[in-house]
Amino acid sequence: MDCHLLELPPGAQTEPLRHLYEEVVHVLAGRGGTTIEAGGRTGHTFEWAAGSLFALPLNARYRHFNTSGQKPARLASVTSLPLVLNAFHDLAFVFDNPASFPERIGPDGHFRGEGRFLPVRPGRHQWETNFVPDLRAFELRSWERRGVGSANIKFVLADGTMHAHMSELAAGTYKKAHRHGPDFHIFPVTGHGYSLFWREGDPDLVRLDWQPGWVYAPPDQVFHQHFNTAPHAARYLAVAFGSIRYPFSADKRGLFGDGVDRNVARGGRQVEYQDEDPRVPAMFRAELQRRGLDPDPRLVEIWRRTGARCPEVT
Ligand SMILES: [Fe+2]
Repeated sequence: MDCHLLELPPGAQTEPLRHLYEEVVHVLAGRGGTTIEAGGRTGHTFEWAAGSLFALPLNARYRHFNTSGQKPARLASVTSLPLVLNAFHDLAFVFDNPASFPERIGPDGHFRGEGRFLPVRPGRHQWETNFVPDLRAFELRSWERRGVGSANIKFVLADGTMHAHMSELAAGTYKKAHRHGPDFHIFPVTGHGYSLFWREGDPDLVRLDWQPGWVYAPPDQVFHQHFNTAPHAARYLAVAFGSIRYPFSADKRGLFGDGVDRNVARGGRQVEYQDEDPRVPAMFRAELQRRGLDPDPRLVEIWRRTGARCPEVT
């Protein structure tokens, strides 16, 4: 995967471009628009701002423009360029290819922020679209098996093989630890917090503090766990290759199938509360205390039940 940052100066626009790799774009700052032409159909123009998410449909010609005369705009992209370029190693084939993929364009409304909710089950509910105007306001669905107060939506963007999802941690909560392949790029969207990382059997926990504007990628099969230290909900966007509709790899099929919220002791990818390292809840409790915040009462109840592992909870 490739992750890159594009800054558009005030009033600037990009040259038209199309390519045979997929690209998912998250707007970090500024205001602007994107025009997309595809398959001989009328072009689509949509306007984005900080907090927007969109996909560039496969090989559709596009241009980005900054509509502000004063401020730069910043677009963070995750793409499948390395995979495609390494497979074909021919720039003209990848960047100047007449093939069109009209089925990737979807209904016009998918460029206006409309979409289709595809109910499956908690943690697998999907929203199919090309453009999400504001991730901060998007309605999420409860996913308690990933932790109390956890909510999520899986995005199906431009019928692509690139994956995106958004998760929320309620105030005073954290998600259970889990592990998977190395390509999930995590962009904090609201709030702030920290994540812990460790390899199986590793005595040390590595900590990373985050806030909007950051991006990080948990390494291959490294356990990681996200903690909200904000006084309100915290959201993050994750972008990877191999989507819930087109998983592509065995890792993604396992993850989006049963693995993501199943106990590691039962062949899954998740560490349940009762199996947590005692340092995990202790650190979270201390962090909240330092900030004058309270843990979610449901979490306190869970710590009580597993109290032997967390002695400072009374
Ligand atoms: Fe993860």
